[in-house]
Amino acid sequence: MQRRVRIAPSILAADFARLGEEVRAVTSAGADYIHVDIMDGHFVPNLSLGPAVVAALRPHSGLPFDVHLMIAPVDPFIAAFIDAGANIVTVHAEAGPHVHRTLQLIRQLGGKAGIALNPGTPAEAVDPVLDQVDLVLVMSVNPGFGGQTFLASQLTKIRALRHRIDACGRPIELEVDGGITPETAASVREAGADVLVAGTAAFRGGPTAYGDNIRRLRGDPP
Ligand code: DX5
Ligand code: ZN
Repeated sequence: MQRRVRIAPSILAADFARLGEEVRAVTSAGADYIHVDIMDGHFVPNLSLGPAVVAALRPHSGLPFDVHLMIAPVDPFIAAFIDAGANIVTVHAEAGPHVHRTLQLIRQLGGKAGIALNPGTPAEAVDPVLDQVDLVLVMSVNPGFGGQTFLASQLTKIRALRHRIDACGRPIELEVDGGITPETAASVREAGADVLVAGTAAFRGGPTAYGDNIRRLRGDPP
């Protein structure tokens, strides 16, 4: 059975000179979450935004802010992102030795906790912390940059995580991030994803195209 997927536009692909307007435009175009990619030039080879930008964007949308932390160390920055208005805070399983502690910290501070897996990390990596998470994020590109090609090798992992989540019986969202287009979205929806992150494909064509872009990613007619 296919569920109705939620769409999380990644503002990494938005016009950075007009970020507030871009967030308002995807919100009114039917997005479900605002995905914010945080990169540190150390865990991933790129730099993006910090908590001050998250705080500045917060008044521009009532949607949940889905903050994807590609940073190491991560613990010293969790409180700053939650204070800035992050609702879901996702950290990488590969970012340090104490991911269980990090997930606990996110929840203690009132956030929803997500765990992300790089393409080279197996599905089993989530097993010891499945009781501590509200979201599992499968990276379908190597993190660090938008506009990369979807790795079809990750579909097996998405299906495996769908089974694990269904078996555990808790309401954990399964999110997929990287190289999502209307074409790759179809296979990711079929594999059981709940949330699709899209940067390039969501922001292509400017604000007047965002509604159609989002509908195509959902598999709805434009
Ligand atoms: C990559 C980021 C993604 C990225 C997706 O490190 O986590 O969220 O912005 O961009 P597209 O959709 O262009 O692959
Ligand atoms: Zn992301």
